Amino acid sequence: MNNRTPLIAGNWKMFKTGIEAVKTAARLVKLVAGTTDIDVMIAPPFTALAPVSDIVRGSCVSLGAQNLFWEAQGAFTGEISPVMLVSAGCKYVIIGHSERRQYFNETDETVNKRMQAAVNNDLIPVMCVGESEKERESKDTFSILDKQVKKGLEGFSSDDLERLVIAYEPVWAIGTGKTATSHQAQEVHQFLRSVLEKNFGNMLAKSIRILYGGSVKPNNIAELMTMPDVDGALVGGASLDPEIFSKIVQFKK
Ligand code: PGA
Repeated sequence: MNNRTPLIAGNWKMFKTGIEAVKTAARLVKLVAGTTDIDVMIAPPFTALAPVSDIVRGSCVSLGAQNLFWEAQGAFTGEISPVMLVSAGCKYVIIGHSERRQYFNETDETVNKRMQAAVNNDLIPVMCVGESEKERESKDTFSILDKQVKKGLEGFSSDDLERLVIAYEPVWAIGTGKTATSHQAQEVHQFLRSVLEKNFGNMLAKSIRILYGGSVKPNNIAELMTMPDVDGALVGGASLDPEIFSKIVQFKK
């Protein structure tokens, strides 16, 4: 099996009510119908997961969540468990997005706990890593990413991580309109694969998907996808409009 089927994932962040999400998802399903060579995922807010699940069922669009809490159930007011996500129809879960690290005290340690919960519940984790502008300027990009990957994946064996997806999202490129050049992305993706190789072996490093995220648009996706270590994209702003997102999915046309 080739695990590196390109994945184009939409992160809707805190946008869209249930009704708006259903409308968007229904339109997207129509626009990308028949897509076979690309995996497509959308991650609506929690409140829209169940209704959107009904819309995408049987289509080529998969459902993902934007976060999870690591306990299965309990007195954790305001949290959502992996079991709940699975029963709402989720196949994927985004973990450790930079906005969660920045605004909600997410750390590499909590990322690791969420990763364990995702893997134990058969959710495909999309683990986000990325450096800030300051870290890039001070040439700390590689050391930051090395730490994020190692700590995020601590305690796992390569067998646990077969379905892992990593999203490289330079914080300076998220929602700013500044995209990393395809060569900057390739350089980092290649580095991430070398970190995986050192820690989990060549087989895993070669087989997992590494997505690029940060101001991906219909006009830059094709160039990014020419890079040998770029296996898809995690798209924020441009995933909210189904016409625009479908153009990213259909970047080959
Ligand atoms: P953006 O967001 O595409 O709006 O830059 C990407 C992300 O945060 O996942």
